[in-house]
Amino acid sequence: MSIDVAAFADVPEGGTLRVMLEETPVCLINLGGSVTALHDTCTHARASLAEGYVDEGTIECPRHGARFDCASGEALTPPASTPQPSFAVTIENGRVHLDPTPSHPHPFDS
Ligand code: FES
Repeated sequence: MSIDVAAFADVPEGGTLRVMLEETPVCLINLGGSVTALHDTCTHARASLAEGYVDEGTIECPRHGARFDCASGEALTPPASTPQPSFAVTIENGRVHLDPTPSHPHPFDS
């Protein structure tokens, strides 16, 4: 099952779009025409990753500057050490669809 969350055209190339996946905020990231999806709430201290900066396949948190891999959510630099949950993305008929099951639970959701 996948859920339609946005128009592909609304995700700026090299940028982000914050969407809701049911009750979960998700940061969509457009990397040269392919879209990845991470939980939007930074695992360090709750900033919105969609307000961050995308560069070379990573996204930098706007609050304290931790970087995460845009595809896997791996925490690459301090102060974050916990990976962002990621979501599987499919593009169909110009729409972005997400699998609602994350790669792992967000630490703040438990
Ligand atoms: S809130 Fe994201 S690095 Fe601190």
